[in-house]
Parts: sequence; C-alpha cells; structure tokens
Amino acid sequence: MNRPPSLDAHPGPDGAAPVPSPVGELVRAGRRVALRRHVPANRAAFQRWYADPEIARLLRHDQEPLTSIQSRGYFDTIILPLSARGLCWAIHEVADDGLVGTTALTDIVAESGSALFRIVIGEKDRWGRGFGTEATRLVADEAFSRLSLRQIRLEVFRHNERALAAYRRVGFRVVGEHTELVGRQRFELHVVEMTLDRPDPSSDGHPGVPSDG
Ligand SMILES: CC(C)(COP(=O)(O)OP(=O)(O)OC[C@H]1O[C@@H](n2cnc3c(N)ncnc32)[C@H](O)[C@@H]1OP(=O)(O)O)[C@@H](O)C(=O)NCCC(=O)NCCS
Repeated sequence: MNRPPSLDAHPGPDGAAPVPSPVGELVRAGRRVALRRHVPANRAAFQRWYADPEIARLLRHDQEPLTSIQSRGYFDTIILPLSARGLCWAIHEVADDGLVGTTALTDIVAESGSALFRIVIGEKDRWGRGFGTEATRLVADEAFSRLSLRQIRLEVFRHNERALAAYRRVGFRVVGEHTELVGRQRFELHVVEMTLDRPDPSSDGHPGVPSDG
C-alpha cells in the first residue's frame, strides 16, 4: 500500500512546541471515515489519484488522467479554496487518520437549493469497504444540516457499478440518463443522473439516507 502515513500532531522533543499536524481540521466523523479540511500536504496523494487511468475511466468525462501540471492546478486553485469554504473535504480513515480520498459539493444552484456531488476514494486498496458509502452520507449530512441545501445531484457512468451501488444504498434515485461521445473514437459514455432529496424534517430520522445494513 502506498497510502501516505498519518502524521498526527505530537509534542516536540523535551516538551518543545508541538510539531504542526499536516492532517486537516476535523469536520464530521463516521464509524469508518471522517471528513477533514484539505491541507497542502494532501496534494501529492491527490495528484497520484488523478494520474491513475483506472480512476479516470470511472470519474472523468474525457476518460483521461490528469497531467501533474493539471492536477496541481486543480488542487491549488479549486480543491484548497473550496475546502476553506466548507464545500470540499479530505476523506480520512478513522482507524489511523490516513488520507484515502476527496469529496466535494460544487455547482450550487441557489434557486433550487441543490449542489453537484463528487467523490473519489483514491486509495484503490480501500475500495469496497464501505468508505465511499459512509463518506457520501457524511456529505449529505453537511449539505442538508449545515448548508441547508434541499437536494444533491450527481452524475455517474453506467459502467461504474461500485459507485451506483454506493449511491443507491445512501438513497439516491435515478432521475435520468444521457449518452456522451468521447474522444476521437467517439466512444459512447452512458451517464446516469441521480438525486437525493433532503429528508422531511417532520419524519423520523433520515428516510432519504438509509443507514447500514
Ligand atoms: C465509487 C466509490 C466512491 C465507492 O466507494 P467504495 O468505498 O469503494 O464503495 P463502498 O464500499 O462504500 O460501496 C460499494 C458498493 O458496491 C458494491 N461493490 C463492491 N465491489 C463491487 C464491484 N467490483 N462491482 C460492483 N459492485 C461492487 C459493494 O457491495 C457495495 O454495495 P452494497 O453496499 O450494496 O453492498 C469508490 O470506489 C471510488 O472512489 N471509485 C473511483 C472514483 C469514482 O468512481 N468516483 C465516483 C464517480 S461518480
């Protein structure tokens, strides 16, 4: 596993000032994963994830990995500022605080109170352990309770079965589908459109956000 190690804050030698932690401030925690602020120390892992062709095929509409110049620009000019505004989060494993992914709410439409959801569990050896499902629930909690949004939208490729399963488990439902033609080969990309509505406050719990099991 080439996941970056967790480096928590700890006292310096002989009671000297604590060594600053490169792990971002905690925003919201679940059982398996937590959302934290992004910090510049996350850039290298982010760039590694976005350079991966398998991740690009599941994530990017052009199906192409990012060059290191593109991913550095993306992280520095979009991810870090969005995270500072409380709209983008690093996903950390609760067990050891290690960084495993990134998630965001973008393209907010004020009139409808909706935002577009994005997520990458970039550490591929962490796929299929419930991290993406729980991180999606945590973002939904942020969206509906702190940001007072009414709906989360997302787009997912039909070939991304793991993502489709995770989103369905959280309560997203399919509201449309379209096809995009990608690249010189005019490859047909089937895109599924899904939404999750804010739970009705008069009802018990989170009917739109089913829990585990
Ligand atoms: C999509 C993603 C966020 C899901 O996170 P995850 O931690 O891997 O997913 P989870 O373990 O929470 O849930 C995976 C679901 O898919 C199922 N699954 C696991 N492996 C699978 C496979 N190979 N094929 C189909 N389904 C699979 C699991 O059973 C689970 O469904 P269930 O809860 O109904 O049993 C993550 O895999 C990822 O980041 N992938 C790359 C980038 C990406 O696709 N981002 C989303 C773009 S829309």
